[in-house]
Amino acid sequence: MAMRIPVALATVLVSMVMAFPALGQPVKDAAPAEVDLAARVKAIQANPRQFDAFYKIGAKSAAVCANCHGDNGNSTNPDIPNLAGQNPAYLLEQMRQFISDERRNEFMQGLMKALKPEEKVSIVVFYSRQDIQHKPATNEALAAKGQEYYAKNCLSCHGEQGRGNEKMPQVAGQQPNYLSVALKRYRSGSIVRKDTQMSVVTQPMTDADIATVVTYISAMK
Ligand code: HEC
Ligand code: HEC
Repeated sequence: MAMRIPVALATVLVSMVMAFPALGQPVKDAAPAEVDLAARVKAIQANPRQFDAFYKIGAKSAAVCANCHGDNGNSTNPDIPNLAGQNPAYLLEQMRQFISDERRNEFMQGLMKALKPEEKVSIVVFYSRQDIQHKPATNEALAAKGQEYYAKNCLSCHGEQGRGNEKMPQVAGQQPNYLSVALKRYRSGSIVRKDTQMSVVTQPMTDADIATVVTYISAMK
């Protein structure tokens, strides 16, 4: 299941990202890397003029991401996650985990290290405004069972619509293979991806439970 990305492609993509001009003139008190980027995104979202400026730059930077995550963050590869409509604080947290080695994917880790804080901010501002393209369930009966499972075990954190919230990821409409790989990693406590809450949630799940809930979530509106 591991994705092999040719080194040459990775180098080109990383240099493309690095070639993006910095956002306008850097402000004197510009955010140092450790600043709370999620708070910065909130401030931008509350200011329509700033929002437009960041959105435009984010749209350009996201052209690199579109190679894998699809146009406007709607992936066409069931192994690669959608970023469309994803919650900014969650995206920033995953970027942080890739950089700190807490979440592992060689290509994504290299790419995230190459992004400047303001580029991360503009990219998440852009994706937060994209809509997920919904796909109908592949198996209605299984999806109905998955809905029951979700209501009992997942809804309290990921929400009735699967949209999550400031801290919780949106799972609605997410790519099916990606979802099931993520759930199995949490369950096995893999070093590739760990999370305390999701580890507890996935411990009792059988492979059949995972298939059931993924059928529901990936088609959720
Ligand atoms: C060469 C393909 C490729 C490119 C280009 C790429 N990504 Fe990824 N990205 C992936 C894969 C594959 C994963 C899933 C990794 C895993 O299995 O955990 C991923 C995961 C992510 C995640 C985690 C999503 C989630 O739901 O947890 C974020 C955030 C992300 N990428 C952001 C970006 C951004 C921003 C860019 C552009 C600057 C980008 N990616 C470019 C392949 C790519
Ligand atoms: C107690 C709260 C909680 C519950 C209950 C919960 N989750 Fe999560 N979930 C989280 C958190 C927090 C994360 C982000 C973890 C991280 O940073 O990797 C997450 C992440 C995920 C992800 C990864 C999303 C992505 O884009 O990579 C999936 C898939 C997921 N949860 C599915 C489920 C399913 C299915 C259930 C029910 C069986 C469930 N969750 C129940 C808190 C919860």
